Amino acid sequence: MAKVELIGIGKVYDGAVRAVDNANIVVEDKEFVVFVGPSGCGKSTTLRMIAGLEEITEGELRIDGELMNEVAPKDRNIAMVFQNYALYPHMTVYENMAFGLRINKVPKKEIDERVQNAAKILDIDKLLERKPKHLSGGQRQRVAVGRAIVRNPKVFLFDEPLSNLDAKLRVQMRAEISSLHHRLNATMIYVTHDQVEAMTMADKIVVYKDGKIQQTGTPLDLYNNPCNKFVAGFIGSPPMNFLLVRVIEDGGSLILDEGTFKIKPSQWHIEALKNYTGHELYFGIRPEDLRYAENPAGENIMPLTVTVVEPLGADTTLWLSTNTQKLVARTEPTHNFYVDQNVHFVPDMEKARYFDKDNEFAILQNAEK
Ligand SMILES: Nc1ncnc2c1ncn2[C@@H]1O[C@H](COP(=O)(O)OP(=O)(O)OP(=O)(O)O)[C@@H](O)[C@H]1O
Ligand SMILES: [Mg+2]
Repeated sequence: MAKVELIGIGKVYDGAVRAVDNANIVVEDKEFVVFVGPSGCGKSTTLRMIAGLEEITEGELRIDGELMNEVAPKDRNIAMVFQNYALYPHMTVYENMAFGLRINKVPKKEIDERVQNAAKILDIDKLLERKPKHLSGGQRQRVAVGRAIVRNPKVFLFDEPLSNLDAKLRVQMRAEISSLHHRLNATMIYVTHDQVEAMTMADKIVVYKDGKIQQTGTPLDLYNNPCNKFVAGFIGSPPMNFLLVRVIEDGGSLILDEGTFKIKPSQWHIEALKNYTGHELYFGIRPEDLRYAENPAGENIMPLTVTVVEPLGADTTLWLSTNTQKLVARTEPTHNFYVDQNVHFVPDMEKARYFDKDNEFAILQNAEK
């Protein structure tokens, strides 16, 4: 069992810099939780407070119900994997993995069993006699994970463990860490600023901004029901488009006026949007919810100009502009788009999201469609 609870956790460095503000997080036993957010938003600080490497200024940290605030790091039964791996350069892979156990006076035979076992799991059993400088980045990363595994901790903490790897290796290691989570059946907390890592690995994502948790939920919760414009723009790639539109009434119907075109909200959204009649708000639409209309006819046609074409093989990313605003669409790779082309797109209005222009909160969160 290893349930981790953060109750009103805060961190102020040197009495001046507030790094984390009132964090409330429940990491259930065996759950894989990802903290995600831009640089400097407080992810590492939160992780380091859980590990005991940083003092907790406010709130309570509980593991399986037990208060941990004053418990020494070595007694928390937590293992942390750092971004720079922090391997000892003069020790072999074997010694690096055995070191912590030796310090804790674990019998030699047991150390050997645990190291061999972890090395097999991570496919580094042929590298045990090498020094870190003779390993590739991916192999070093595995040694760092191995050092955590041999300790058989209650909770694994990972602080951006893949950020030193090239793109291809990242994708591979991402899958390996996910599979490790299933094999070890352990509670894991993983920090990254990469929303793709968060989406692909997490049972639950915690989105941070400026030291404050913005939203907690499953990857699809956050994708489908972002609570504000920040989360909506952070989760999903390319990011959601936000067009400033004015809500107007036209012949008894509610209309969104962009300036160059007018579109009609879905009937499910009208009730909530009525309050905004006469005002501006953000119309949020994901690139995958914009459909190219080769022969435009009917409602909700958006006339746009192509500014950049990015063919990716499986699909094409198209950067577009209205007269005044920019947006991006994900399209089929079969069309031959070109720069300065005048095109038409139709948004899937049922998938649209709306955000208050001033406080940027979602206007329709959790609304049925
Ligand atoms: N030891 C420290 N003393 C003072 N301020 C600190 C200290 N460590 C971090 N901070 C500040 O606390 C805030 C949060 O830092 P933190 O390292 O937790 O961010 P992060 O989300 O991990 O960012 P990154 O993605 O860049 O690693 C930042 O403003 C940072 O400058
Ligand atoms: Mg960090």
